[in-house]
Amino acid sequence: MATMTTRHFLQTSGLVLAGLLLAACGKKEPMVPAVTAPTPAPVAAAAKVYVVGTDAAYAPFESQNGKGEIVGFDIDVVKAVAQKAGFEVKFLNTPWEGIFNSVAQGDRDLLVSSITITPERQQTLDFSAPYFDAQQLIAVKTDSKIVKFTDLAKLKVGVQNGTTGDEVVTKLQGKDSANVKRFESTPLALKEMEGGGVDAVVADNGVVVHYVNNNPASKFKTIADTSFASEQYGIAVKKGNAELLDKINQGLAGIKDDGTYAKIYAQYFGSAQATAGAALAPAAAASK
Ligand code: ARG
Repeated sequence: MATMTTRHFLQTSGLVLAGLLLAACGKKEPMVPAVTAPTPAPVAAAAKVYVVGTDAAYAPFESQNGKGEIVGFDIDVVKAVAQKAGFEVKFLNTPWEGIFNSVAQGDRDLLVSSITITPERQQTLDFSAPYFDAQQLIAVKTDSKIVKFTDLAKLKVGVQNGTTGDEVVTKLQGKDSANVKRFESTPLALKEMEGGGVDAVVADNGVVVHYVNNNPASKFKTIADTSFASEQYGIAVKKGNAELLDKINQGLAGIKDDGTYAKIYAQYFGSAQATAGAALAPAAAASK
């Protein structure tokens, strides 16, 4: 207070005076707000609503239910984070292609979309602490002779364009390979395999397991391969948006501490364990 400027003093004392006058009229409430704060902050502004971009074709992490609402593990995590950190969120379905741009251009404030934190992406985006462990997983027809990732070197492989699945398969086949079939979404790639358009699909384990379990008529099985690196999902913000990133990290730490994260995790993956691999292993192991 020692360094309070005259302007601040006048503003502050004016507010106090107004409060006293109102109090004199018998209204106690106006005295309550922190009107004597040294800096005239934008007090009582409605909580900011942050726009969250997500490619909602990635069950069980993000998808649209029958009513067109965006639902899933990622959605519940971000809702809980927002509640914990005291901000509001609104989810907008955002195609994977262009999702990173949407945050760079300010059309979205944050992204939650099972996004693997990679050094390359970290050059243009800032990521929260990891909130989920993942790994690539191969899906093939039940009668397929494929047993391991390197078997895919010369085969037609479906991936979602621009994902880490795309990266590993492109690396295996070489970047000019015509056998990497890139789809707009992972379900589209899997659908293509039903008709034999591709021999295998490589994508995140959680999504592959979910699809295989929920589409028994497709007759798919999964193949795990130890050569796949472990991946971690993070919530992304525009590079340099430390204010929002701090809030997200605070909220994330909060829901991990108070058990909310474990509850959400158990709801989707059937076990309260905080790591993804364990819960997803049974279905993957079953195909061995
Ligand atoms: N984890 C993978 C990646 O970051 C795939 C994510 C795709 N997410 C989605 N909602 N389609 O590349």
